[in-house]
Amino acid sequence: MSRVAYVNGRFLPQGRAGVSIEDRGFQLADAIYEVWAVLDGKMADVEGHAERLERSLNELRIPMPMSRAALDQVLRETIRRNRVRNGIVYLQISRGAARRDHAFPKAGTLPTVVVTARSIDPAAEAAKAARGVGVITRPDIRWGRCDIKTVGLLPNVLAKQEAREEGSYEAWLVDAEGRVTEGASSNAWIVDAKGRLRTRDTRANILRGITRKTLIQLAAELQMQVLEEPFTVEEAKAASEAFITGAGAIVMPVVSIDGQPVGSGQPGPVATRLRALYLEHARSEAV
Ligand code: PDD
Repeated sequence: MSRVAYVNGRFLPQGRAGVSIEDRGFQLADAIYEVWAVLDGKMADVEGHAERLERSLNELRIPMPMSRAALDQVLRETIRRNRVRNGIVYLQISRGAARRDHAFPKAGTLPTVVVTARSIDPAAEAAKAARGVGVITRPDIRWGRCDIKTVGLLPNVLAKQEAREEGSYEAWLVDAEGRVTEGASSNAWIVDAKGRLRTRDTRANILRGITRKTLIQLAAELQMQVLEEPFTVEEAKAASEAFITGAGAIVMPVVSIDGQPVGSGQPGPVATRLRALYLEHARSEAV
C-alpha cells in the first residue's frame, strides 16, 4: 500500500507530495514539528503534544494554521489513510514559502503544513526492549533554545549518526560540566544506587519531553522518588539502570554507555516496569 501525506489541505500519494523549495522549513529550519505515538490505532499523549505544538509555534511567532479540532481531524485521517495501528504520526509546520531572507516574510504568509504517518512493529519494539539498547555520549553542541521543538536539528543528526556508526541506538549529549543534558531525540534517565529516578531538570537547555513529563507523574503515583537534577556521565555509567524516553522510543532501557555495560548489562526491572506502566497508561488514555 502506498503511503499518503497531507500537504496544505490535500491528501496526496507520498511520492508525489512536495513543498516549495523556498519553504522556510527547508531553507532555514524555520519550522516546528510534533510526533505522537500511535498505539492500537489511537494517539497517545494528545493534549501534551498539542500544547507543546502551540507553545513552539508561539515561541517562533508562527500562526496556528488551523483550529486544534481541524488539526486533530487531519492527524487522524492521515493515520487512517496510512492504516497505521502502531507507529507514529508526524506533523511539521513551517513559516511558509517566501523569497529567501533571514528576516520573517510579510504578514499573511501562510504556514506550510505537512502530516505523515508510519507503522512501527510493536513486536520488534518489544523484542528490542527485552534486549535493551546501547547509547554513546557526545558533547552537547546544539543551540541555546533546545526547549523549542524546532527542526533545526543538525547537531542532533550528527550525534545520532555517530551513535549509529558506533553500533549504538542513541547519543547522550553532555554539557561543559560533563553532565548529561538529554538524548539526540529522547530524554535521558538513570536509576541511582538508592533506586531513585534521575532525569535532567527543565531549567537546563533541553526539550521538555512529554513522555518524560507523563512518566514523572506515573512514577510519583507509585511513590517512586524522582529527582529532576543533573547527573554526570560517570554517575550514569555507575548507575544501576539507565533508560531513554520519547514518543518514538516510549521507555527504552539502556544497557551500555560508551561501550561500558550499565548495571547488569541487561534491561533492568525499573525501566522494564516503567515501560509497561507507560504503555498501559498511554493505551488507556489514548484517544
Ligand atoms: N523526539 N529530546 C529531544 C531532543 C527529542 O527530539 C525528543 C523527541 C525528546 C522526547 O520528547 P517526547 O517525549 O515529547 O517525544 C527529547 C521525537 C520523538 C523525534 O524527533 O522523532
